[in-house]
Amino acid sequence: MAGNRSNQRNRFIVFILATAVTALALYLLLNFDQQLRDYLSAWLTSPAQDSLIRIARLILWSVLAFLGVRALNTVLFDFVFRIRRGYEAPALVRNIFSMVAFTILFLLIFNRIYTEVNLGALFTTSAIFGVIIGLALQDTLGNFFAGISLHADRPFQVGDVITVGQQKHTGVVESINWRAIKIRTFQNHIALVSNSIAAKEAIEVCSRDNLNARLIYFSTVYTDSPAKTIHVVREGVRDADNVSEKITPIVRIRNLGESSIDWEIKYWLEDYAKYNDTDALVRQRAWYALRRSGLSFAFPTRTLHVERKVATRPTTAEDEIADRLSAVDVFAPLTPDELRQLSTATVGHVFAPGETLIRAGDEGSSMFVVHNGKVAVQVADTSGPRTVAVLSEGNFFGEMALFTGEPRTANVVALEETEVLEIGHAAMKHLFETNPSLAESISWTIAERQAALAASAEQAAPNSLAESAGLLASIKRFFSLR
Ligand code: CMP
Repeated sequence: MAGNRSNQRNRFIVFILATAVTALALYLLLNFDQQLRDYLSAWLTSPAQDSLIRIARLILWSVLAFLGVRALNTVLFDFVFRIRRGYEAPALVRNIFSMVAFTILFLLIFNRIYTEVNLGALFTTSAIFGVIIGLALQDTLGNFFAGISLHADRPFQVGDVITVGQQKHTGVVESINWRAIKIRTFQNHIALVSNSIAAKEAIEVCSRDNLNARLIYFSTVYTDSPAKTIHVVREGVRDADNVSEKITPIVRIRNLGESSIDWEIKYWLEDYAKYNDTDALVRQRAWYALRRSGLSFAFPTRTLHVERKVATRPTTAEDEIADRLSAVDVFAPLTPDELRQLSTATVGHVFAPGETLIRAGDEGSSMFVVHNGKVAVQVADTSGPRTVAVLSEGNFFGEMALFTGEPRTANVVALEETEVLEIGHAAMKHLFETNPSLAESISWTIAERQAALAASAEQAAPNSLAESAGLLASIKRFFSLR
């Protein structure tokens, strides 16, 4: 931005200087005509002096006309057009304006200086001149008129993604001028497609103000349930960055292949120019979603040779889980035996960075322990989500809804790839029955977190002691404990 400003200032200074120098030279030429002729008479004859002075006048007036046209162009298009229409004038319109205005001014100046030349006759009689110009400018004129028709049609605008030309150049349109369309490809190369070629070829336009869709393919094994796959993948990809919320992604069977069910995900993008990144994110989300649900991608070789049920806990050994649970402060009173029992009852899930594990307002019947990675606990604020806590390995969350039966109080979002251990209602009930003190220590954590949430919402913080006593009673009721 700053560079742009200083560039504009430099151009303005050069413009003022050039105008001043030309105007001064013209003033001197017109007012000191006799002195100049006297000076030149030492070397040149009178007709030669005359033609030299006329050429100098033609040049100086033309330069002044050129500068005048540029100034008018800037005033008309940079200020009036942009302010009135709210967008930048197309380069082609600006160029045509400058060319026509300058040609008219030049002819007028020429006519004033060379009064004896009949320009009309020169143009009408000079057929050869016309043929030469026509032949020499054949391509250029073709581009020029194709450019005009592209502008008149307006099939696409600067910022749209288009695919054009025999080589199928795809990229974002950067400019359209009198000769070519300039496209920035996704490898950050510039492709110039001449207007005449673009006018002849089919152009695929993904306009900026259109909801453009993409298709992503994947395959699963035949033993996986299609209904489950549809649900799991759709929910996994719908809140990925740049996936439009206006239309829910569609997950559908594309083909029943030899060794796999072949699927496609159709999703719509907010910003189509970022489709490469978003495709990759959607594939990543599909991977995590399938993995968490115990569904499997199909690989012909593997599907042929391996016939093994997908483990519910794909990455973590039982002892490792028992170790992790023993490091959770509220589980400290549990015996090694109880910890092992608890670890067999947990289910591991892996989440991608940015994925939402828990949504505020949802119902919840399980809690989670962070096994690897980090999550943020976020509450909605007027200015967007606000993080109230970051939880890492050994921390737990989701206990509030599980123990109170209330809806989830906050969003929990993965900050990096995160593996969590899910503990359900039944496993906790069993633990409460054998460890009455457990309900008490958990009710303390809940009371503290509720106080923190209330403080962050600037509500009066509940009295932790009274709150935790109330919670304990409601946990006992909820789990039918004595
Ligand atoms: P739950 O309400 O089931 O779902 C959202 C979870 O975020 C909640 O349980 C708590 O586990 C967690 N949570 C809410 N507030 C805080 C906080 N202030 N500090 C840490 N964790 C919290």
